[in-house]
Amino acid sequence: MTTPKVDVYLTREEADRSLRTDARLGLTSDPKWLPPKWFYDKRGSDLFEEITQLREYYPTRAERSILVAHAGDIARRTGAHTLVELGSGSSDKTRLLLDALQDEGTLREFVPLDVSESALRDAVTALHFDYPALAIHGVVGDFTEHLGRIPGRAPRLVVFLGGTIGNFFPDERAAFLSELRDTLAPGEWLLLGTDLVKDPNVLVPAYDDADGVTAEFNRNVLAVLNRELGGDFDIQNFEHVAVWDTRNEWIEMRLRSTSDAKVTLADLNLDIALEAGEEIRTEISAKFRRDGIERELDTAGFSLDSWWTDSEGLFALSLAQAR
Ligand code: SAH
Ligand code: AVI
Repeated sequence: MTTPKVDVYLTREEADRSLRTDARLGLTSDPKWLPPKWFYDKRGSDLFEEITQLREYYPTRAERSILVAHAGDIARRTGAHTLVELGSGSSDKTRLLLDALQDEGTLREFVPLDVSESALRDAVTALHFDYPALAIHGVVGDFTEHLGRIPGRAPRLVVFLGGTIGNFFPDERAAFLSELRDTLAPGEWLLLGTDLVKDPNVLVPAYDDADGVTAEFNRNVLAVLNRELGGDFDIQNFEHVAVWDTRNEWIEMRLRSTSDAKVTLADLNLDIALEAGEEIRTEISAKFRRDGIERELDTAGFSLDSWWTDSEGLFALSLAQAR
């Protein structure tokens, strides 16, 4: 029995400073925007878990099916001593990799990293219960800031699942991949989950489900601003919007003000005016093709080792090695 450890790299003060900067910048821009990382307070993380169970939201099920089929291959090919998971959330699918690496006999440590302290602590507690002999070193951190401080012995396998890389803009994605490559030694591994381009009739409902769970997840960012920055957003005044951008091949989520509104963020001393119909962009979720991923990995200094999709070709896992 080993006691799990949780390090907080992103303190409450730093998170607060970063939220203030993002909110001021995003809400005074034209068009207005907010970064997706602020969805994930306790309520947002719980809503995301609900999304993963929705009939319309195929990515989690598709990615799980790839892991069921190939976790053994991944364990054999990498022989990883440390499994690092970025944006780990509940780490539910990751259990398939933990099991496979344990069967392979190489796993020494699991390092989940997430910006959501509640999701991270819940995951660490649940994993410690089910894997009492495994060393778990959780990190409350931001994967755009703390990659250089990832703990653990080589060879490491860094996994970035769920398609979360699609929530970056292309320039942010390139910077992330290249920084990740720089933190790894040649021969270490990346397992990357990416959602694939497909019929918009499948894509759009995945981001606009009939039960309105995604709409609630989207609006939750306004609840975060109200609570953390003394805001007075009338949350029900905002409609959830999900559109497929054909040119950029990404889903864009927005919040549309249904009437003229004046909002105050008291802690920022900031008043914002919204016109009826005006939208705040809250997330992009890019969809990928194999050649693009292979090229982006190559540019960052990774060589694609294996590419797997689910039986319907909805989602892909890429195993890549740092050169
Ligand atoms: N990997 C899980 C969860 C995906 S949801 C899965 O595949 O189901 C995205 C996760 O990334 C959330 O847990 C969220 O809290 C986390 N996240 C979002 N932005 C982040 C950031 N900048 N740094 C670290 N974690 C982040
Ligand atoms: C975390 N991320 C990959 C999810 C996605 O599909 O882009 C977040 C999400 N947004 C709406 N539904 C789910």
